[in-house]
Amino acid sequence: MWDRVKQKASFARALLKWYGIHARPLPWRASHDPYRIWISEVMLQQTTVVAVVPYFERFLKAFPDVRTLAAARQEEVLRLWEGLGYYSRARHLKQAAEVIVETYHGEFPRTVEQLQTLPGIGRYTAGAIASFAFDVSAPIVEANTQRLYARLAGYEESLKTTSGQRFLWSFAAQIVPGKNAGQFNQAVMELGSRICQPVEPACQVCPVSKYCVAFGEGKQSQIPVVAPRPKITAVAQAYVVVWKSGALLMQQYAPGERWAGLWDFLRIDLPPEPFVFHQQRVSDEKSLLPLEPISVSEAVGIEQQIQQTTGIACELKETLGIMKQSVT
Ligand code: ADE
Repeated sequence: MWDRVKQKASFARALLKWYGIHARPLPWRASHDPYRIWISEVMLQQTTVVAVVPYFERFLKAFPDVRTLAAARQEEVLRLWEGLGYYSRARHLKQAAEVIVETYHGEFPRTVEQLQTLPGIGRYTAGAIASFAFDVSAPIVEANTQRLYARLAGYEESLKTTSGQRFLWSFAAQIVPGKNAGQFNQAVMELGSRICQPVEPACQVCPVSKYCVAFGEGKQSQIPVVAPRPKITAVAQAYVVVWKSGALLMQQYAPGERWAGLWDFLRIDLPPEPFVFHQQRVSDEKSLLPLEPISVSEAVGIEQQIQQTTGIACELKETLGIMKQSVT
């Protein structure tokens, strides 16, 4: 279907017309600067547009171009990344900036192949930079576009497998036009995120529904097929706040550890289910407040572990809080 040139061209026209009216005015869309596009795309990996916008603006203020980023201190880069998660992204940004300055004299490489040799730049990000900044006719596949492509093509297999990914990349390569590839790629992403949503896609207002196999067959809620959820591992840790004469003890975590390179409180592994709480009913609310965990510190010897790893003798006082957090 997509090798038919006429159909491809009318699909692109309908899509770009919709995009011209409905595109959100996002701060990285206003320019063809590869640096801005790169930073935004790396931030947008695993993070929503709404969450990224303020981080993007702060980051660009601190590091307005690739040279300032290459010259920055790693810790300063991580500080501006704090809260976005997946911190290896920030470390790779700095490393790649150094390569661009040293190897490419501060000019971004323009081909997908060269871009992909930079730390942290995979096939998608390379295609996005090459097409958005330089209008190279490069395909892209990411979360929103893969859902859209699977539905357009009526692809009923898993997208996670090697053959699923191979199918998506070859479909993307078939539909990307020779000209205006940057606008086209931004438009497929926008359509995927605004119209072709995972649940209840808005097919009634979709500008390209007449090209969509899933819509034609009424299968938009079955495509893409949903993979079973990954297994979750429960981890329990005590965060120990050691406080003396107005100073807090912090530790910078080493490569290979969780949140490597970041400063954090001391973390001590706990047995998987140490939290047996006494519960107290709050009179005017219906919630239950956890009180002290029973003797966790004694059970795992937190004080002894701190003494062994830091040489500091301390005495545990109160439990400041208990938090549950998901980490990918
Ligand atoms: N998600 C990933 N890249 C994006 C972009 N450039 N615009 C909007 N959402 C995105």
